[in-house]
Amino acid sequence: MQKERSILAVVPGRQAAGSTKSLPAFLSSAACQRAHAFHQSFAQYQETPLVSLPALARELGVGHLLVKDESYRFGLNAFKVLGAAYAMGSYLCERLGRSMEEVDFDTLRSEEVRRQIGAVTFVTATDGNHGRAVAWAAAQLGQQAVVYLPKGSSPQRVAAIRETGADAHVINGNYDEAVRLSEKVARERGWQVIQDTAWDGYTTIPSWIMQGYTTIAAEAIRQLSESLPGRRPTHVLLQAGVGSMAAAVLGYMADQLAPDYPVTIIVEPHNANCMYLSAKSGEREAQAATGDLQTIMAGLACGEPNPLAWEILRDYADAFVSCPDHVAATGMRMLAAPAGSDPKIVSGESGAVGVGLLSTIMQKEEGRWLQKQLGINEDSVILCFSTEGDTDQEQYRRIVWEGIWPSV
Ligand SMILES: Cc1ncc(COP(=O)(O)O)c(C=O)c1O
Repeated sequence: MQKERSILAVVPGRQAAGSTKSLPAFLSSAACQRAHAFHQSFAQYQETPLVSLPALARELGVGHLLVKDESYRFGLNAFKVLGAAYAMGSYLCERLGRSMEEVDFDTLRSEEVRRQIGAVTFVTATDGNHGRAVAWAAAQLGQQAVVYLPKGSSPQRVAAIRETGADAHVINGNYDEAVRLSEKVARERGWQVIQDTAWDGYTTIPSWIMQGYTTIAAEAIRQLSESLPGRRPTHVLLQAGVGSMAAAVLGYMADQLAPDYPVTIIVEPHNANCMYLSAKSGEREAQAATGDLQTIMAGLACGEPNPLAWEILRDYADAFVSCPDHVAATGMRMLAAPAGSDPKIVSGESGAVGVGLLSTIMQKEEGRWLQKQLGINEDSVILCFSTEGDTDQEQYRRIVWEGIWPSV
């Protein structure tokens, strides 16, 4: 029972990976810039807000707290489209025999490109947000999408996928089983898998997806240098499902802010804590979390790490934290009912866990040792990523208004 109530943490230390660590070539500056330029070619493109919360920072005893609000991303309420759209664009470009520098999103949606390539069906597995992003991008490109979701998926998240015209199927299995099913169906029917995780023989598309996610980090660094001239983030909290987003953001920051990149804390739910288990094992290979992965943080309910992401997190992250669902619920409420005259942020279950964890570290007895170990104090500049808004509105209200959620 202790496991349900307290946070668990592994702090391997920055030097744990030794001096041989290096970032993968697919996260080179040039590759990340290409992805950012592609995103800028969308009519919907705008930087999402980097929101400063000075009153909350004061209450928590840190210097500055900045939250990147991804609920504004392309009107889709989550960051995921940055990866899916870039990977789908790169795939089409490859089919055309052209490079990504030569094309923008409008070119790829043109009648002429559709005639050249013909009909494509994109298939994926999702807890909701990635599937919605694939479905949206497919519709924009005039192509088809088929999406598999794990059992227990939120009806609102399923409906949001179907609204784009995609087929959505809820399977009788968990997220990792949905991934395997989409790969099998794609093989049988000649469809194209757009998955946000990698496995043996399937690495190109997930590496494009990770390149796409670096746009969040590029925007955040630029925005932070504008709102706090001369300062950099000292600490970053990143939530992980398969780890692609966390590794893309951390990899980008480790490259751009080297050698003093921020102290980085990876956070996951207890019931899907594969990165925490991997770090705890001390092995170089990633370890899986098993079972039905039940948590309110649906976007983080993944048991098998993306091996490309794990290598970056293993070598560059400073701490791996596993936490109960109430930590995310606390973060949602703190952002919904802000301190002082701080602005409000609508942050969903998987979006708010970073802020929830920061409050646990700064205000609760169980987090105090981490506060010391990670050197978080009144001079710290903390960066969190609210990766989704209220993607399941009913659940959001149950948690924020009524203070209840399924206990796991
Ligand atoms: C809102 C949200 N935040 C974070 C994540 C975690 O991203 P990743 O699976 O790349 O670790 C997801 C994944 O679906 C998500 O939907």
